[in-house]
Amino acid sequence: MKLRDVLKGKLTEREFSKLKTAHDIVGDIAILEIPRGLEKKEKYIADALLKLNKHIKTVLKKKGGHIGELRLQKYKILAGEKRKETIHKELGVRVTLHLEKTYFSPRLVTERKSIMEQIKPGEEILVMFSGIGIYPLVFARNTRAKEIIGIELNPAAHQYGLENVKMNKAKNVVLLQGDVRNVMPKLKRKFDRIVMPLPMGAEHFLDLALEKIKNKGIIHFYDFLMEEEIPEKAFEKIQEACKKAGKKYKIISWRKCGSAAPRKYRVCVDARILGQRKNGSASGRV
Ligand SMILES: C[S@@+](CC[C@H](N)C(=O)[O-])C[C@H]1O[C@@H](n2cnc3c(N)ncnc32)[C@H](O)[C@@H]1O
Repeated sequence: MKLRDVLKGKLTEREFSKLKTAHDIVGDIAILEIPRGLEKKEKYIADALLKLNKHIKTVLKKKGGHIGELRLQKYKILAGEKRKETIHKELGVRVTLHLEKTYFSPRLVTERKSIMEQIKPGEEILVMFSGIGIYPLVFARNTRAKEIIGIELNPAAHQYGLENVKMNKAKNVVLLQGDVRNVMPKLKRKFDRIVMPLPMGAEHFLDLALEKIKNKGIIHFYDFLMEEEIPEKAFEKIQEACKKAGKKYKIISWRKCGSAAPRKYRVCVDARILGQRKNGSASGRV
């Protein structure tokens, strides 16, 4: 049976034409998008989704977008158990999270896999903006990295991260709470790989990453760009930061990894940092 079949008689033909059946699943929670004009029928739609999927226990809908420094999002409970906390499984890792108190997107699984597949045995990795610890835990579970450090500003996300490290018995993951601006200068070491999953404004933290990357290390830089800016605008941000830091670099790859709004995309650029620049240009592209 399909959602449309369960909703027969509850929605008009016009309402059916607006219905979006795609939804995100985080653990046992489904997140529905209710198009404008269907709000009065949202409860019917959520109940129908619960009825059809035995593994879904709660149905939510997003209220607005991600806001503020912590990138948090509000949700309304439409049906099922009255909770916003769940356990999500991804790439062999189990994580507990609260959808409103922490940032989490199941859609980024492909992106995490893409970085995970680049990691070589023995690497020391830093994940700036680590949230509930999903990037460090996916790397710990699926690679032979030596150590992965995560830094997260949101105390609630950090607490979930600590629980998740225990739950996954990840011995080589260390999570630190605080602002990367305060925490990173205290780290007395450099890293083979630094991941920067903060697409809005990551360029303001590139100086820190450039300071802590080893010679020939790789920075994964995320950005939100309009279609016509891809990928040049992100390359320019890296070029500018490298110029300021006096570092040479080489762009090794880039990819679109999700959308943020119509014609606006999340882009990841992988750049190898090649140490101190002598005189002349900082740029180098493949
Ligand atoms: C887009 S979320 C990504 C979280 C996580 N990496 C994930 O993909 O699930 C960005 C995260 O950066 C954190 N953050 C923002 N500014 C920060 C800062 N200055 N220092 C450390 N963390 C920060 C936010 O609280 C948020 O959890």
